Amino acid sequence: MSEGPGQGRAGARRPLISGNWKMNLNHLEAIQVVQKLSYRLTPQITAAVEVSVHPPFTDLRSVQTVLDSDDSPIILGAQSCHFEDQGAFTGEVSPAMLAKLNVTYVIVGHSERRQLFGETDDVVNRKLLAVLRHHMTPILCVGETLAERQAGEARGRVTEQLEAALAGVDRGSVAQLVVAYEPIWAIGTGQTATPADAQEMCALIRALAGEWAGPAASSLRVQYGGSVNTQTAGELLSQPDVDGALVGGASLDPDGFAVIADQAASVARQR
Ligand code: PGA
Repeated sequence: MSEGPGQGRAGARRPLISGNWKMNLNHLEAIQVVQKLSYRLTPQITAAVEVSVHPPFTDLRSVQTVLDSDDSPIILGAQSCHFEDQGAFTGEVSPAMLAKLNVTYVIVGHSERRQLFGETDDVVNRKLLAVLRHHMTPILCVGETLAERQAGEARGRVTEQLEAALAGVDRGSVAQLVVAYEPIWAIGTGQTATPADAQEMCALIRALAGEWAGPAASSLRVQYGGSVNTQTAGELLSQPDVDGALVGGASLDPDGFAVIADQAASVARQR
């Protein structure tokens, strides 16, 4: 049987290291960063892990062209999209447009979208379904606030977010999803979750997906995100249910980002 998209040797989950550039780097800067990153990612790294970059919309076409012409192993991702295919939605970008640019991964429900741009659980669900409809893979972000964690509500909040996001998603698609556990208090703060907390929450996400999709959920990939950098990545990525990282600030530096991918590759080779 052939290997599925996120599967490596012997059906093990292939880690995914994703760089979320947020609102940084214009298209010229983006070209420089991906060229440098391509150079730093050795065949040993990309044999063991997938690496995606998620530039702002205005950079996507330029980055796609560079990746294609250099035959780069870097995978193109986007940070968000609308849930409709087209129409009177000023300022929005549709999933059909992203698919046409050969975008593979689309971040859905990032906490900045939820908190700063009012994306509700219902909107996140509609976006997730739209991304799947266009044969791209959503990276669904879930995570609790500091107040929720302190009140002992982290597991409950993540459960609610996951259940709302997965409404109407068929079993087969759940197994192909990527979910990123991103505690909101860890994003951009320099404060990471402990490896044990990251493991606990990623395992919870896999167990919840298992209730939804059955044994197929064992191939679901769960990333950790929130202040991942070259210092913190190694231990986080060594946790058995952490299948990669969603990296914000540290992904803007191609040297450091390649080091994180290399650390993930070392862990993956030992599994
Ligand atoms: P950070 O962002 O690595 O800068 O904390 C992570 C994210 O928001 O995805």
